[in-house]
Amino acid sequence: MSIAKKIAVLPGDGIGPEVTAQAVQVLQAIGERFGHTFTYTYADVGAIAIERHGDPLPEATLDTCLNADAILFGAIGHPRFDNDPSAPVRPEQGLLRLRKSLGLFANIRPVTLYPSLLHLSPLREEKVRGVDFVIYRELTGGIYFGDKGQTPNGAYDHCVYTGPEIDRIARLAFEHARRRRGKVTLVDKANVLETSRLWRKIVTALAAEVYPDVTLDWMYVDNAAMQIIQYPVSFDVMLTENMFGDILSDEASVLAGSLGMLPSASVGEKTALFEPIHGSYPQAAGQDIANPIAAILSAAMLLEHLGLTAEANAVRDAVQATLEAGIATADLQTSQASRCSEVGRAICGLILAPVEAER
Ligand code: IPM
Ligand code: MG
Repeated sequence: MSIAKKIAVLPGDGIGPEVTAQAVQVLQAIGERFGHTFTYTYADVGAIAIERHGDPLPEATLDTCLNADAILFGAIGHPRFDNDPSAPVRPEQGLLRLRKSLGLFANIRPVTLYPSLLHLSPLREEKVRGVDFVIYRELTGGIYFGDKGQTPNGAYDHCVYTGPEIDRIARLAFEHARRRRGKVTLVDKANVLETSRLWRKIVTALAAEVYPDVTLDWMYVDNAAMQIIQYPVSFDVMLTENMFGDILSDEASVLAGSLGMLPSASVGEKTALFEPIHGSYPQAAGQDIANPIAAILSAAMLLEHLGLTAEANAVRDAVQATLEAGIATADLQTSQASRCSEVGRAICGLILAPVEAER
């Protein structure tokens, strides 16, 4: 059955536009092969939006997102703002406001490793072989969104969570665990933080009442930081609050050998958003050298979210076949590095002529 979907494309800053362009090409190739029609509306976000409109999330961008079936997001951030604590507006505010405005309370980051890239992991191959977990990071609460401010001789950021905020993301994590290996690890700091004790209470009760078939275990965040390195195969679904998830998901991403490989989905109340987990990598911007695979795999998550599972798998198969053929950007240390656009083209080619590429 052919479908038509509206995609909001927010390329953002740095390498965002070039990797997003490849993800759009991939969606086009999927549309062609499966007979779907995707239409794209482009909108500004981040530093580029500050430059053009004086606002990291212009009203028009939010409207575009609200009117779309899904959002493809590139990256935001610009060095101009990084070392300026007094900057009145920052690109990151655009992303945070977007998350809040769309109610995107769950950030889902799968940590999957490609067999042909195991040697690139900073961990020994035997430690990372078989690693396959997914992080559910709460995205619209906690210290990111609590009351913050300055006092005469200091500053504060409050960490606040409500029961319903915890409950709704925990349900998504448990549901996903059911479709995977049936285990949820709640990561918190319940030995110190009151909010963490609330997480434990809510999640434990939910597990007992609704998901008795899923195994729940708990881990303090400092220990989790260690276990991700020590014993990464032990995780299935990791569930955690906003800031812990921010830190641990960056840590987990290096297991895959390159930050340029991992996609993410942010879902919640309104239009879902899909973005590579890497940042704007300003040093590489405009050079056609960035790895487009994280953006392309984000497009695969977008397809899956729209219920297009075969299409999502076609993207993943093409990515795998491209890697196995040794076509990769410089971050993957191939003997001959390809350009961002060449990798995108190769993946599109395999989507359109899949015969020998299928697993
Ligand atoms: C992320 C990023 C953002 C965050 C920044 C850019 C605000 O690090 O998506 O993980 O901290 O959530
Ligand atoms: Mg982060």
